[in-house]
Amino acid sequence: MATKYFTTPIYYVNDRPHIGHAYTSLATDVTARWARLSGHEVFFLTGTDEHGQKVEKAAQDAGMDPQGFTDRVSQHFRDLAATMGFSNDDFIRTTEPRHKLACQALWEELVRRDEIYLGHYEGWYAVRDEAFYGPDEIEERDGKRFAPTGAPVEWVREPSYFFRLSKWGPWLLDFYRDNPDFIAPASRRNEVMRFVEGGLQDLSISRTSFTWGIPVPGDPAHVMYVWLDALTNYITAAGYPDVSVERWRFWPADVHFVGKDIVRFHAIYWPAFLAAAGLAPPRRVFAHGWWTNEGQKISKSLGNVIDPLRLVEEYGLDPVRYFLLREVPFGNDGDFSRAALIGRLNGELADTLGNLANRTLSLIQRNCGGTLPAAAEAAPEDAELLGGLASLPGRVGALVERQEFHLALEAILAEARAANGYITLQAPWALKKTDLVRMAVVLRHLHTALRVFATVLQPFMPGTMAAMLDQLGVSAEGRGLAALAQPLPEGTALPPPTPLFRKVES
Ligand code: MSP
Repeated sequence: MATKYFTTPIYYVNDRPHIGHAYTSLATDVTARWARLSGHEVFFLTGTDEHGQKVEKAAQDAGMDPQGFTDRVSQHFRDLAATMGFSNDDFIRTTEPRHKLACQALWEELVRRDEIYLGHYEGWYAVRDEAFYGPDEIEERDGKRFAPTGAPVEWVREPSYFFRLSKWGPWLLDFYRDNPDFIAPASRRNEVMRFVEGGLQDLSISRTSFTWGIPVPGDPAHVMYVWLDALTNYITAAGYPDVSVERWRFWPADVHFVGKDIVRFHAIYWPAFLAAAGLAPPRRVFAHGWWTNEGQKISKSLGNVIDPLRLVEEYGLDPVRYFLLREVPFGNDGDFSRAALIGRLNGELADTLGNLANRTLSLIQRNCGGTLPAAAEAAPEDAELLGGLASLPGRVGALVERQEFHLALEAILAEARAANGYITLQAPWALKKTDLVRMAVVLRHLHTALRVFATVLQPFMPGTMAAMLDQLGVSAEGRGLAALAQPLPEGTALPPPTPLFRKVES
């Protein structure tokens, strides 16, 4: 069985989870579920990023020791994963012993290969981004200095180990050219390439002014730079440094899902660290956009942070999952608004999909004694609908694999609209009086349509689609993509339908 490895960023435990965290993980979850549905063996990893100055400071502000603090906040991210229905196979915390082992082994490998040297760092550092910035990147406002991300910076001067990043610039540029799909979308790829073409500096990879981190082997006055520590999680979870374990076969990762703010770390530092240690780079880094809330930047100080748990309470899990991937192209920024959410739920889920299911299943219940009519050849007036259905799983798969989730959902919806047009035109309720044979054929084709929709929508709305497949009489083993080739037997008993989506008052 072919393997697939998908990752989310590991989340800083300085704060509670918000919509941005839910969003990155949701896209990863849908991708992982799709790969399973199409018969792959999947490893889906998420977790928490628990070291560094930012987390240490958050712990201090909370009046707690860092380990106790991270234990508590990390749990909120596990809870989020459970509430959002994420199907991750592992949850890594960077304070785990397996991770310390991996980081120290990677460090030692880099030392062995002469990729690390001891020096002195002097320059700007933004704790909020956990990032170093060059003097030309700094802006001054009201006597204060800021990084291009808006994060305040401070001047840091300390002994530091450096990674020979500068020498990897030409290798990176060749790598991007040879692997045009490595960074997506294209705008991010261009941005990263321009940055690397501008020349890379060696990277400071240890800190001495605080202690909350993984000690540098042989020199415990230094802790590792939190991004070296954090990025390494992706190989820790695959078993590194023991590359003889079974899990290692998942490496390299197929897609690292990240937000646009952290593409540089994943697309520049990470492949360089790996190549320098003689390890394969990941296959793809996809950087999604950022959400605003009703037109405003989301920030704690504005008090407009969107809590995914509350959204789920209010609208239900699957409608929220659907909306987040439907509303905005995955690589773009997007605006969260309740009106848009309600519009999609009512128009697309309740009216288009829900109604089609309800009408079809009620007619089968009433007119066919609640059992499935026989499979039938396509009459000319059925050909268009059935042709669209036959190609739908392939089209959706291709779009999901390019992270074009909104187009995948649009393709499904277009077929659902076509099926609604078909039911209106064929009017099986009228055929009941004139042509029972044809009525049964029409209902059978509509059942087929619903089965295809429910099957391909499972990754997006797992709970609701499981209920829909129950109502369609599809057994638990018959829910993969490959099973669509097997028609359900005539006479399969269907339970009385219940509505799958409810409309929301605006
Ligand atoms: N700890 C690092 C990642 C290390 S990965 C080796 C980190 N953590 S984070 O918790 O700050 O952010 C995690 C993700 O949330 C990022 O992908 C980021 O882009 C995303 N988002 C944060 N705010 C967001 C929005 N308003 N909208 C969409 N996603 C946003 O960075």
